[in-house]
Amino acid sequence: MRADAVEITDLLWDVAADGVRRPVRRSAVVDRLRATGQHGAARIVARMPATDDVLDPDAVDALGVRVHCELTRLVEELQFPRRVAATLAPVLDRLRAAGPGPVRVVDLGCGLGYVVRSLARSGLLGPDVELVGVDLNPVLVAEAERLRRDEDLACRFVHGDALAPGVAVERPGRTVVVSSGVLHHLSTEELTALVRAQAGLGVAGWAHWDIAPCLWSTLGAWVFHRARMREPVSRHDGVLSARRAHPAPVLLAAARDGAPGYRHAVLEGPRWHPRAIDVVRPLVGTRP
Ligand SMILES: C[S@@+](CC[C@H](N)C(=O)[O-])C[C@H]1O[C@@H](n2cnc3c(N)ncnc32)[C@H](O)[C@@H]1O
Repeated sequence: MRADAVEITDLLWDVAADGVRRPVRRSAVVDRLRATGQHGAARIVARMPATDDVLDPDAVDALGVRVHCELTRLVEELQFPRRVAATLAPVLDRLRAAGPGPVRVVDLGCGLGYVVRSLARSGLLGPDVELVGVDLNPVLVAEAERLRRDEDLACRFVHGDALAPGVAVERPGRTVVVSSGVLHHLSTEELTALVRAQAGLGVAGWAHWDIAPCLWSTLGAWVFHRARMREPVSRHDGVLSARRAHPAPVLLAAARDGAPGYRHAVLEGPRWHPRAIDVVRPLVGTRP
């Protein structure tokens, strides 16, 4: 795999910072994938509907929602909501002890918002926690919001760039940032930018969950995606996610560079008795 290999879903939408969507040329996406030797992915895109070489936006949006619904199976299997709640508990306790008022948890790159909606439904984090999901893709934000309305949940979803400081953060000292499955979409420079954006505001901390790259996680991703996912795009992107995830030393170096005043750790699972769910683990940062 080439270092600059990309997931298909990284190329299907072109959305400006103000949310305005630009047309995406199918041949440009196919050429981009061929250039990095991703010929199978190029064939998947070449079969997608297009008019005058512009990918059909409705078909792309419907595909995006289907792919993220399939991804939710993995998020559910890996027990993300419960594990996010357990990781955040000590930070939230510290913030409550520091003074009264609501605490906010912002999920960056929330996709369909499964983690945020689950936490809102279960109340695991407590009634004083405001839950906000942010995503770069307005189609996913709209669908997350529709699902939230359907269940009348106390959370909300907004369009925004995780790398832009201040997105969905109002009282930084009482805000904790989380993400799941986003870090592998970012270059090392972008990892630093992500952490710097949050640290610059002075947020209380963060827990960014992503895949621990190794032979077993790639193999596991392949098996899981063959067994539980039907969309060729899900299968392609899921396995590539595991292969291009950042190792712990890279995450730690980027985090220390972006937020020198914070304490950092990658909370890996037990080395000698690994559990399947430890295939994902968080990069944690806390303000001393
Ligand atoms: C693999 S999906 C994970 C979605 C969700 N967190 C989950 O676990 O189901 C990655 C998500 O990150 C979003 N994303 C990627 N780069 C982003 C950025 N710079 N700002 C906000 N969202 C971003 C994508 O739109 C996509 O929804």
